[in-house]
Amino acid sequence: MESVFVTGTDTGIGKTYVAAGIAAALRRRGASVGVMKPFAAGAPGGAFAGGRESGPGNNVDGDAAILGDAAGAADDPPHLVCPHRYSMAASPYTAWMRGGEPKPDINRVLECYEEIEGMHDVVVVEGIGGVMTPILRSYSVADLIADMGIPAVVVCSDMLGTVNHTMMTVDACRRSNVTVRGIVINGGAGRPGSDRYDRHVLEQDLEELCGFNILGFVPPMPGAAAGARQTTSQAIGRLLDVSQIAGT
Ligand SMILES: Nc1ncnc2c1ncn2[C@@H]1O[C@H](COP(=O)(O)OP(=O)(O)OP(=O)(O)O)[C@@H](O)[C@H]1O
Ligand SMILES: [Mg+2]
Repeated sequence: MESVFVTGTDTGIGKTYVAAGIAAALRRRGASVGVMKPFAAGAPGGAFAGGRESGPGNNVDGDAAILGDAAGAADDPPHLVCPHRYSMAASPYTAWMRGGEPKPDINRVLECYEEIEGMHDVVVVEGIGGVMTPILRSYSVADLIADMGIPAVVVCSDMLGTVNHTMMTVDACRRSNVTVRGIVINGGAGRPGSDRYDRHVLEQDLEELCGFNILGFVPPMPGAAAGARQTTSQAIGRLLDVSQIAGT
């Protein structure tokens, strides 16, 4: 079983939903699942515009709390799960350079990952922003995925423009020698009423144009707000090809 890094074509595209779904599905198979959100922006306490909140007694960013609940790993040490928490809602690079926050420490992230990996069978890592999001001046999320040595799953939307964003994302992965396991299309991303692709047309085009398999399609999930997180994560997990994602 292989750990996985969940990235996406943008912020707010559904990385947390999909990562929580993967974590829930792996847990359902009996695996001990760890999670990581190496960089959280706008943390703690849901300072993000999306209004996410930290889990009870768990003073880490809302994403880490959602992932921890889905994986059954909510008690893992927060400083390992989420080693960098920036109050500025921006890239780690910008939070450091413009927000006066601590310099991102890549070695620390890699050490935390190794510790969590040692505690579990498999780890689901959620990125920040997209693959070209800067962490240091010349070090992006794609470089971090390559240094972690785990494959990526790319989450994209089904809105017009997604083919461009997805092709740029997989291209950046290839250039950084990141292995891409495949693509998950999130039909619940973005504003209701947005122009959207026909699901099957998009699946066919992305497979042909990007050269990677579609690992699942997540529709808009009703009742996905707070209170229904675990159920939502489990439902999303059932929509994903977890065997391909975890390489089993
Ligand atoms: N399938 C879906 N059904 C319903 N709502 C969704 C779905 N996917 C995403 N959303 C909504 O979009 C928001 C953003 O999704 P999510 O938090 O998973 O994105 P993200 O890529 O993890 O964002 P970030 O870059 O901030 O970490 C969610 O809080 C939720 O409100
Ligand atoms: Mg997220």
